[in-house]
Amino acid sequence: MTILVTGGAGYIGSHAAVELLNNGYDIVLLDNLSNSQIESINRIKELTGKDFPFYPIDLLNRGELETLFAKYDFKAVMHFAGLKAVGESVEIPLNYYHNNITGTINLCEVMAKYEVKKLVFSSSATVYGNPERVPIDESFPLSATNPYGRTKLMIEEILRDLYVSDSTWRIALLRYFNPIGAHESGRIGENPNGIPNNLMPYISQVAIGKREMLSVFGNDYETHDGTGVRDFIHVVDLVRGHLKALQYLENNEGIETFNLGTGTGYSVLDLINTFQSVTSQKIPYQFVERRAGDIGICFANPEKADKVLGWKAEKNLEEMCRDTWNWQRNNPNGYETSNDILLHEI
Ligand code: NAD
Ligand code: WQD
Repeated sequence: MTILVTGGAGYIGSHAAVELLNNGYDIVLLDNLSNSQIESINRIKELTGKDFPFYPIDLLNRGELETLFAKYDFKAVMHFAGLKAVGESVEIPLNYYHNNITGTINLCEVMAKYEVKKLVFSSSATVYGNPERVPIDESFPLSATNPYGRTKLMIEEILRDLYVSDSTWRIALLRYFNPIGAHESGRIGENPNGIPNNLMPYISQVAIGKREMLSVFGNDYETHDGTGVRDFIHVVDLVRGHLKALQYLENNEGIETFNLGTGTGYSVLDLINTFQSVTSQKIPYQFVERRAGDIGICFANPEKADKVLGWKAEKNLEEMCRDTWNWQRNNPNGYETSNDILLHEI
């Protein structure tokens, strides 16, 4: 069974590719490499001992997408491709709307044309906006506070409309909480461009000596230690949830939404302290003002995924820190290659 993985060279897509290959799926991987490096493809092959075709295609290029769908008999699509930096989305909103929304519409149009109607979509807990309470379940009201979040919300709505128009679609909307960690081999991991926006990559770059000090954004939230609380989830647990969702779509019709989180909130200071104790690396930090747009507490009620998909997160915060550090110290400068050499041409 061949699965198309869009955005498969990126952080989460590369881990999903490994999990799919290790579970007997064939994959075709597509990525325009706008936020990833081709070396991740080589690492996926090395880790799994399996070969697969990679296409450096942009979802905005509908003609190339059609050629790809004409060539392969895809059974389903895991759709990770998208731009994801919240701050950047405020600066260049049109790029975000165009890339994420038009890209997804192109993909769905081509899927419909080739009768490939099973889709696993990367949504985000950002669609809950500033939740009234925690834990957050799937029925909570939806809102978004920035253009990136609005692309996720709009895509969810587009996919719901698509299902209403044609009930032969089978769609899983997976709302990720805060994915961190890396494959335990340390061969693939998160490889941010420039200064990391997110907490865990920033901590690990301080640990490796690339950044001097972490700024902790706010210590006056209503949390146990005043710093923000999040539902950190190991990326390998997260991608296992995708395989469960894929199996679900094989057996069930409809469009369903699932939170992918652990159900436990840890604070910024909890994460720093755990990282320090697991890795024996010192993380100097200072408290600074809250970051605009941040919320105090966010964690999931993950019961629906447990009941319906038979999935729950298994890895703890120590394992998330250990695996992040293993990736970072073995790859201090990430994948360190250029994208000049492209492997397969369509
Ligand atoms: P990533 O940037 O590492 O991976 C996304 C990949 O998509 C990149 O390799 C990029 O080159 C590719 N891409 C972007 N636009 C494309 C296009 N038009 N055509 C082809 N390829 C394109 O990000 P990630 O962390 O792996 O996130 C994967 C998905 O999960 C994204 O949709 C993201 O919004 C979503 N998500 C991520 C997080 C997170 O914290 N990492 C949380 C919630 C949701
Ligand atoms: C976590 C906590 C910060 C950096 C973002 C997106 C969300 C989703 C996941 C895609 C917060 C604090 C951070 C730093 C800090 N992505 N922090 N110093 O904001 O929960 O979610 O990524 O869908 O849409 O908004 O994650 O890792 O940026 O922040 O103190 O240098 O760490 O204030 O409390 P966030 P994050």
